[in-house]
Amino acid sequence: MKACIAGTGSYAPANVVTNADLERMVATSDEWIRERTGIRERRIAATGEACSDLAVQAGKRALTAAGLSATDLDMILVATCTGDYPLPATACLVQHQLGATKAAACDLSAACCGFVYALSVADAYVKSGMRHVLVIGSEVMSAITDWTDRNTCVLFGDGAGAVVVSASDGEQGILSTHLRSDGTLCELIMVPGGGSRTPPSEKVIAERLQYIKMKGNETFKVAVRTLEEIARTTLSANGLRVEDLDLYVPHQANVRILKAVIERLGLPKEKVLLNLDRYGNTSAASIPIALDEAVREGRIKDGSLVMLGAFGAGLTWASAVIRW
Ligand code: UT7
Repeated sequence: MKACIAGTGSYAPANVVTNADLERMVATSDEWIRERTGIRERRIAATGEACSDLAVQAGKRALTAAGLSATDLDMILVATCTGDYPLPATACLVQHQLGATKAAACDLSAACCGFVYALSVADAYVKSGMRHVLVIGSEVMSAITDWTDRNTCVLFGDGAGAVVVSASDGEQGILSTHLRSDGTLCELIMVPGGGSRTPPSEKVIAERLQYIKMKGNETFKVAVRTLEEIARTTLSANGLRVEDLDLYVPHQANVRILKAVIERLGLPKEKVLLNLDRYGNTSAASIPIALDEAVREGRIKDGSLVMLGAFGAGLTWASAVIRW
């Protein structure tokens, strides 16, 4: 018994914010952002548009692609670090909106690795008897972005991507997933205020502690090392060579990180999905949005061998390899 991807979907808010728009907000330039990150524009949620709203749209599209109804779902997992509320789980709001009356629902918090972590949970549940699990990565990063901090505000965007993971007894399916973390590096990317250590207060607001703080340069180096390491682990666990891959779908954080990784792995750039120029870093949503685009553009077909690779706050890093 394997777990396969039965359908994909994605959704991005209509509002496009370009690098030129950011030039009017902080001391930056289109040239700096494009050269240092590869990002040209990102989508930003409208006022009042929350994580579950994006997730529901992506989830509906994935269900349609899979030819399933919401009532077929056994479980909904939402990977996010920007849920609608501290509680309840955003997945419960999605379950209600979709009318997935038979589904259990919970969120998974592993920052930019959240989707791959959630995919591995779905894989395990399907292998142990569930039939259909909806896995959604959905983020409204704009809500935790400090729009006065040029070190971070040029990087992030909002969006959602979803896959339906279903039981399969054929060749197709998730071949393996690999999950890692190193909490000694927890301070590299952090939202320091608003949680139980530093609950919301006037001080939190005054010091802007409710927003993402990131040591970008240190994160960059760890990202290159961990993405290369986990890709090699994944290939060797499955007896695969780099040449066997049809497509590498990495977390879309920075084009320079990804160029360094694929150079080290010896992967031709034609086999790498890059769309961060249009979305920026959408955290847990980046890989499922990219997967959905690849499927709809015909870059992933039945039989394609696809490897995912992610890293993010925690630090966490993760991968999966899928025979489509
Ligand atoms: O998914 C979450 C994981 N996070 C990441 O993947 C982020 C990983 N890190 C990065 O992508 C890069 O480190 C950044 C894009 C964040 C920064 O690029 P960098 O090449 O590492 O630049 P830097 O931090 O070393 O800064 C270089 C200079 C600094 O100025 P000085 O000190 O040399 O005068 C910054 O103040 O660039 C300056 N700078 C900017 N200049 C114009 C930083 N942000 C900007 C900006 N516009 N937006």
